[in-house]
Amino acid sequence: MDPVRNPYAPGAGQRPPELAGRGRELDVFDVVLERVARGRPERSLMLTGLRGVGKTVLLNTLRSQAIGRLWGTGKIEARPDQSLRRPVAAALHMAVRELAPHHRAPDRIDGFLGVLKAFALRGGPAGSGRGSATTKLRDRWQPGIDVPAASGRADSGDIEIDLVELLTDAASVATDVGTGIAVFIDEMQDVNPEDVSALCAACHELSQIGAPLIVVGAGLPHLPAVLSAAKSYSERLFRYQRIDRLDRVAADQALCAPAEREEVEYEQKALDLLYEKSGGYPYFVQAYGKATWDHAPRSPVTAADVRVAAPEAEAELAVGFFGSRFERATPAEREYMRAMATLSLVAGEETGVERDDMDAAVPTAEIARALGRKPASLSPARDALIKKGLIYSGERGTVAFTVPHFGRYLRTQPA
Ligand SMILES: Nc1ncnc2c1ncn2[C@@H]1O[C@H](COP(=O)(O)OP(=O)(O)OP(=O)(O)O)[C@@H](O)[C@H]1O
Ligand SMILES: [Mg+2]
Repeated sequence: MDPVRNPYAPGAGQRPPELAGRGRELDVFDVVLERVARGRPERSLMLTGLRGVGKTVLLNTLRSQAIGRLWGTGKIEARPDQSLRRPVAAALHMAVRELAPHHRAPDRIDGFLGVLKAFALRGGPAGSGRGSATTKLRDRWQPGIDVPAASGRADSGDIEIDLVELLTDAASVATDVGTGIAVFIDEMQDVNPEDVSALCAACHELSQIGAPLIVVGAGLPHLPAVLSAAKSYSERLFRYQRIDRLDRVAADQALCAPAEREEVEYEQKALDLLYEKSGGYPYFVQAYGKATWDHAPRSPVTAADVRVAAPEAEAELAVGFFGSRFERATPAEREYMRAMATLSLVAGEETGVERDDMDAAVPTAEIARALGRKPASLSPARDALIKKGLIYSGERGTVAFTVPHFGRYLRTQPA
């Protein structure tokens, strides 16, 4: 069928033609926004899930939902080894700019911007341990705020103190206009420990005073562990929502609703096969949907069309989804993941989830045994893989892939 009209959108953060199966999350967030704006106690939200399940897309949708209620919003994508100070400043700058047109006292906005500037500029080189090139870049960096920097607030240099003060002040601007501020943080597992701790403290403080500011995070499945390692009370501070693969009804909807708008239909058998192939993982749903559309000669789409198209979808996934990630690993890390891939099938048999597309968590001791190494000697590879976001440790002493179907992919790759 006409590739120009192909509605499907495989790709990181690509808005899907139909956001299927997330009704509950959207409803929950509506209630959260309403409660926070009314000063009711509410916890910040944390979305967790594997790669490609649609966390970024959902985060962006929640942001639109907040903007629709005239909230101020800003978004950050965390990176390992990066301080949160400037990204947070930029996000709040954006949020307050969105609120400014509804505000009656421009000097209140300017007052806040002065504090914001002081906060942003405070990330001095002292103790950061970075080279002089970075320092120079930092000196040249300008937050793009015309107001002079204030002093005595959010500029102590202690990120925990400064963040609490900055977020409290931002929230009070939102209180003036009767809405709130939402700060969205993607890849939140990559925020460094000191900043995570400061964020938790700030959320804790804000929820106690009923300030209308929430943090909405998204990250890999071990995000809860990262947060509770920083502050033990974080378990009670955040509401975790596991974002998972789509069930059959939602996966069918993700394929059929966009097709229907183009007057294209699927035979039931085609949908059966597509679900079997994609396992309901949103990225795969889009990838198989796209390839099938291009190969199918006409509506209705048949199972035979899916069968013809599948190798192309798989080839594209092998390069774009799996291969690009695998290439980030060093030879030693690849060896580690290969051992994991083999063992995850065995572990799956033991735990009863024995399906080729369901990778079970693997005890790290088993990996050491399989590779004939001491467990401690493999820690650097494991830690590097966790940092690269390829694996995570959900339960103590075990590791699992963050990428769905990654074990199966590796098992089909020649060593
Ligand atoms: N609810 C949904 N229904 C249909 N398609 C979806 C849905 N959510 C996401 N997708 C599609 O899945 C793909 C992956 O989405 P997204 O990039 O948001 O995943 P992610 O969880 O952020 O992945 P990563 O961990 O790699 O950042 C995109 O192509 C998107 O269009
Ligand atoms: Mg993402």
